[in-house]
Amino acid sequence: MKAVPFPNPFRPGAGHPPPYLAGREDEKAEFTKLLTQSPVMTNMVLTGLRGVGKTVLLETFKPIAVQAGWLWAGTDLSESASVSEDNIAIRILADLSPLVAGVVAQEIEREKLGFGAQPEKIQVLLDFDLLKRIYDTTPGLSADKLKAVLELVWSCLSATSCKGIVLAYDEAQNLGDQAERNQYPLSLLLDVFQSIQKKGLPFLLVFTGLPTLFPKLVEARTFAERMFHVVTLGRLNEKECRQAITIPVEQKNCPVTITEPAIEAITKSSGGYPYFVQFLCREIYDSYLQQKASGVLDPVVTVNQVVRKLDTDFFAGRWNRVTDRQRELLSVVAMLPNCDDEFAVSEIVAKSKVSGLKPFSNSHVNQMLATLSDSGLAYKNRYGKYAFAVPLLGEFIRRQQAALN
Ligand SMILES: Nc1ncnc2c1ncn2[C@@H]1O[C@H](COP(=O)(O)OP(=O)(O)O)[C@@H](O)[C@H]1O
Ligand SMILES: [Mg+2]
Repeated sequence: MKAVPFPNPFRPGAGHPPPYLAGREDEKAEFTKLLTQSPVMTNMVLTGLRGVGKTVLLETFKPIAVQAGWLWAGTDLSESASVSEDNIAIRILADLSPLVAGVVAQEIEREKLGFGAQPEKIQVLLDFDLLKRIYDTTPGLSADKLKAVLELVWSCLSATSCKGIVLAYDEAQNLGDQAERNQYPLSLLLDVFQSIQKKGLPFLLVFTGLPTLFPKLVEARTFAERMFHVVTLGRLNEKECRQAITIPVEQKNCPVTITEPAIEAITKSSGGYPYFVQFLCREIYDSYLQQKASGVLDPVVTVNQVVRKLDTDFFAGRWNRVTDRQRELLSVVAMLPNCDDEFAVSEIVAKSKVSGLKPFSNSHVNQMLATLSDSGLAYKNRYGKYAFAVPLLGEFIRRQQAALN
């Protein structure tokens, strides 16, 4: 009999559940705590850089909520850059309706024609058509219409054992108000949920998104600051990183072992960022097996080789899209010891004077960082400082520079 092949367990990819989800215990506990609120006063924003594990963590919240008696609805808002108020409201109806479609909203007795006939009972179900009908026929603004639907949904559910409904939205930084089109979908959402939570309806919002998300919410409605608890996902610590690397290969029949020096090198090169951990491990795993298949008895894969692949697969695309002058600016930033944290415009200006490159002025730096933010390489945080929007970009840039010299 042929041995069962052991497929590569590592999963570098947006939203792909890892073979072992390391750490994140505090964040799960935070979420679990929010489910005990009655009434709901605090919602969650789960934020962090791309690849840090927001989507897969959000997925693990779902069974926690269900276990605690809550219903769970939600979607990915990646494509929501220009939605209107009606769009977002109907999106919510569509997300809710599968959860409640079996619930009876009303029983109507209809007289049957004919002498002595029993009246006929008709059940009106809480399906999408009904929700949409209520939405359409409620007078007022989109917000009033949506509130009417949510109130009806809860009035039907409150008689059941259901504790409440979690509405989870991934990539929520894409939501935005558009004054020029007179459409305020984000404000609508905040207004509606603040209002129904005040009335004691147990709807809990969980938004995940890039670090631009929370400032965006607060900009739309200042009360968002009090409405959300912000949980920022960061890198895994050393122990968690080790677990993410080793647990998936410590399974029966796994043909690959990852040695101690390799574990240390992966931990260091990945900076503890989950996507990079998965990427490096997946590559190492494959190239080990490829060498073995081609007859090498004791294959050696160095992490350095794999980091080079990371540079071409992950960073190069982003790097190639920036102009020469932007590259110079980013190189100056990469010279700052705090480049992987946050940095101020003044620090860049000062560094540029001693960098050997043509110096940058204040306004120039501001303007270029704004452009780089639009292209997703940097972002401005709540305190007016900037940070790289891509993890470990500083080290990549330094590797590039070293290769040039
Ligand atoms: N806690 C974790 N332990 C191990 N791998 C993780 C962890 N969190 C995320 N990953 C992996 O990292 C990658 C990015 O995760 P994802 O949830 O898509 O990030 P984000 O939504 O923040 O961009 C995926 O390949 C995922 O399997
Ligand atoms: Mg994601």
